[in-house]
Amino acid sequence: MDKNSAIGVFDSGFGGLTAVRELIKLLPGEDIIYFGDTGRVPYGSKSRETIKKYALQDSRFLLSMGVKYIIVACGTASAVAADTKQFVPVPMTGVVEPTAAAAAKATKNGKIGVIATTATVASHAYLKSVKNISPKAEVIEQACPLFVPMVEEGCVDHGDIVVKTMTERYLSGLKRAGVDTVILGCTHYPLLTDAIRDYMGKNATLINSGEQAAIYAKSELERMDLLSSRSSGGSTDFYLSDDAEKFGSLAEYYIGRHIDGRVERIDIEKY
Ligand code: DGL
Repeated sequence: MDKNSAIGVFDSGFGGLTAVRELIKLLPGEDIIYFGDTGRVPYGSKSRETIKKYALQDSRFLLSMGVKYIIVACGTASAVAADTKQFVPVPMTGVVEPTAAAAAKATKNGKIGVIATTATVASHAYLKSVKNISPKAEVIEQACPLFVPMVEEGCVDHGDIVVKTMTERYLSGLKRAGVDTVILGCTHYPLLTDAIRDYMGKNATLINSGEQAAIYAKSELERMDLLSSRSSGGSTDFYLSDDAEKFGSLAEYYIGRHIDGRVERIDIEKY
């Protein structure tokens, strides 16, 4: 396999940018190809069959671009469609295990909250993964179905009344339960970090699933001797299943940098 091939990253929309942001920081020499399924977001309220079909199509698109490694930067696809791996001829990792491991390490009182999409919570993937590492941990799960559409619409400001209201509604149970660590189990949610931190208080540790997926991918690429020979100057190209223009401006805001690579729409149903 060519070490200088790109790393492929996919998500249902903007959420996977939380992994891309970290990858660019950790591995500045790597080319990255991102696919955001903006035409079919959200995944988290869909059936298992549909999520599996989408994850496979997303992976096939990235493979058609010649990627050497795939990061499933989507909590829902990682939790529900982990078996996509068996159809993919390059190494592939998701967000659940690395994020659960980071949370198990971070907690001091053994009480961990998981916020994620409805499909992810129904799979109990994070709960099982935390319990594998720390059988005594108390894990409290909460689905937050409106967070993804909020992020897709750019509604993330912690001063915004909608953001404040929904954060309180979704997180009040976790706060009452006294969790000291919260898994942001959907990669969209770290984009709401300010609001979540305001509500949970500064002593709570928030575990960013996009960031953890990127850190883990780096260690895997190192282990498999698949890191690019370049140490800087990697490109990042974005492909979407819906309007590319709308994606570009909000993506720049979320990644915190100017996008100079391609931003193009593709027909994901062909894959
Ligand atoms: N970023 C996806 C996740 O991590 C969002 C899923 C959705 O589209 O509902 O779960």
